This record gives sequence, structure tokens and C-alpha cells, in this order.
Amino acid sequence: EMPLLEQCYNLMDFEAVARRVMKKGAWGYYSSAADDEITMRENHGAFHRIWFRPKILVDVEKVDFSTAMLGAKVDIPFYVTATALGKLGHVEGEVVLTRAAHKHNVIQMIPTLASCSFDEIVDAAGPGQVQWLQLYVNKDRAITQRIVEHAEKRGCKGLFITVDAPQLGRREKDMRSKFTDPGSNVQSGQTTDNSQGAARAISSFIDPALSWADIPWFQSITKMPIVLKGVQRVEDVLKAVELGVQGVVLSNHGGRQLDFARSGVEILAETMPVLRELGLQDKIEVYIDGGARRATDIIKALCLGAKGVGIGRPFLYAMSAYGLDGVNRAMQLLKDEMEMNMRLIGATRIDELSPSLLDVRSLFNH
Ligand code: FNR
Repeated sequence: EMPLLEQCYNLMDFEAVARRVMKKGAWGYYSSAADDEITMRENHGAFHRIWFRPKILVDVEKVDFSTAMLGAKVDIPFYVTATALGKLGHVEGEVVLTRAAHKHNVIQMIPTLASCSFDEIVDAAGPGQVQWLQLYVNKDRAITQRIVEHAEKRGCKGLFITVDAPQLGRREKDMRSKFTDPGSNVQSGQTTDNSQGAARAISSFIDPALSWADIPWFQSITKMPIVLKGVQRVEDVLKAVELGVQGVVLSNHGGRQLDFARSGVEILAETMPVLRELGLQDKIEVYIDGGARRATDIIKALCLGAKGVGIGRPFLYAMSAYGLDGVNRAMQLLKDEMEMNMRLIGATRIDELSPSLLDVRSLFNH
């Protein structure tokens, strides 16, 4: 039968339970990635090519891994990244993630294509809770402007513009399962054709003509910090710095877009030395997502220079299998792993994490 929540000892365990208990269509949408899913596997695998060079005989009795992202204080340097269609996994949808993020004092990124309405997700937040907005840019810019202005008015603290999805990737597991929407709020302004799976059905409004030339327009309509989500090469990070955006997420969309895109953590290891060389490392906040499942993954990213790490599927799986208790346990497991591993590498605070604590020789040579 179904394992007890207490029998989930790490984030991968939730995936194994979710695979068994979720409806086929929902599992297909959450777990799928593009084409041969090589990039999705690489996201997880890349972390396994980074090793630690721990310091010994450091007083690690007290460990504090709180930090700040876009100026907001958080307990631990991960955030709940945007994932569409929360109600496929749980009747209450994204607000379950909101409540867990509040309990653990981490940031939730609200997806454009949430099942709950944007206002429901903001209303579910506790006092002072920080949320960001993930934006898919509509061909009709008036719609996008209304979404952005509304988010700012409702107190969102960051605008994450997804730049890796001019067209949604081909996710065959999703296409094969007969997707039925369990009553979501998603409004694409189009009649949906479910024959191509959930992803295609909800994404036809996204503007493939979005370009660098649009960035100043976003800066003119909002005071929220702007972060480009889905950057894949250091050249584009430098362009982002030039345009004065506040951040980038080095990400391949959980492997769901371009198969054979590199992992965020590998791009990070390539990017930060270049930024440091040019003296630009404080001009932009660099985040990564994709495949992070352990606190050691988070620590590796922070050592390389990331401000924080987005985590997607594990919280969806925990929510789908066990609801709020599941997501809370997943986050607590990460906090427990974080405390132990900070101690074991000899670091007591986030600002002590540096490249010298890592051996990345096999990251690129494999
Ligand atoms: C996503 N992701 C995503 N990203 C985005 O910008 N807008 C979106 O609507 C979605 N939707 C979405 C749905 C599902 C089911 C998944 C799994 C992912 C990508 C997400 O923000 C993030 O880049 C990855 O999920 C990170 O990888 P992991 O942690 O899932 O391995």
C-alpha cells in the first residue's frame, strides 16, 4: 500500500510515491520533459560531477543558512519555482505550495498558468510573505501589461520573464496521456485542443516574437525587479547586465524545452568566473533551477556563486501524494540536510560558501 509520509526520507521518495498514486494524465504532465529527456536527466546528473573540498576543525556548532533573494530574507536558499496546473496534482492547487512556503519562510514564484487564480494565491499568503510572478508574455501586450501592473499592485516582489519558451517543447509522455483539465482557472484566450497534451493546450497565447528589444518596455511598466528565466549562455547573461535587469535564472525549464540544453549548474560554473573577471558579479543576481534534489545541490550552487536555487517537481510530487503535510515535510527535509551538510563542509554561514569548497574538474570533463 501507500507508504506513510514518515517513510519519505528525501525528495526523490516523493516522486516514487507520486508515480504510483497520481492520475496518468497528471503524472504525464508533471514528470515529462522534451524529446528523449536527456536534459532532464542531465540536470540531476550534473550535480553528481561536483565534489566537495570540506574544511576541517571549524567550529560549526551554530549554523545559519538564511540569506536574501532580490532583497527578501529567506530561511534557506531555495525557492518554489513556477509550475503550471497545480490542480492536476491536488484539488486545492497552488495555494498548498503558498502555505508551505509561508511556514518555511521561502519564496514562491506564481506561474502565469496557475490553476488557482492569481488573486487566490496572493490572498493565501501570510503576513509579509514574499511572492514573485512568473510571466509568459502574451501576443496581446495589453493583457501582459494588465497582469504585470496587477501583480505589482498586489505586492509581488519580482517579475520573472520566461525566455526559454517561444514555443512549448514536445513532451511525448504528456501527449500520449489523455489530458483532462480538472477545472482550472487557466485562461489562454484560445479554445484549447487537448490532443497534444496539457502543455500545448494551454500555451498558444505565448508570443514567439518576444525579443531583447522588449525588455526596456517591461522596465517602463513596472518597478518590480526583472529577472530573465531560462538563460542558457554567458553571452546572454552579459546582455542582461547591460540592459540593467536585476537577475537571471540559468535554467532549461526542467528539461521540458530544448533537449540537449545544458544544466543550470554547469552554465553557472561557466558564468560566474566571467562575471568576476569583468567585475560584474554584484551587478546581477544569478539563480539556477533544474534537478536540485538535495541540500548538497543547493550548497554546490551557492559555492559557485548562485543567490538561490529553484525547485519544481519535488514539491508538486509531495503535494500530489500527501498534500500540505507532504510539501512541509519535503521542505523540512531540505532544512535538515542543509544544517548537516553545512557542518560537514565546515561552513557556518552562506557567505562562507565559495568555489574553493568545490572540486569541479569532472563537471566539464565527462
Ligand atoms: C514547469 N516550469 C515552468 N516554468 C515556467 O517558466 N512557467 C511554467 O508555467 C512552468 N510550468 C512547469 C510545469 C511543470 C509541471 C514543471 C515540472 C515545470 C519549469 C520550472 O519553473 C523549472 O524551470 C523546473 O521545474 C526546474 O526543474 P525541476 O526542479 O523540476 O527539476
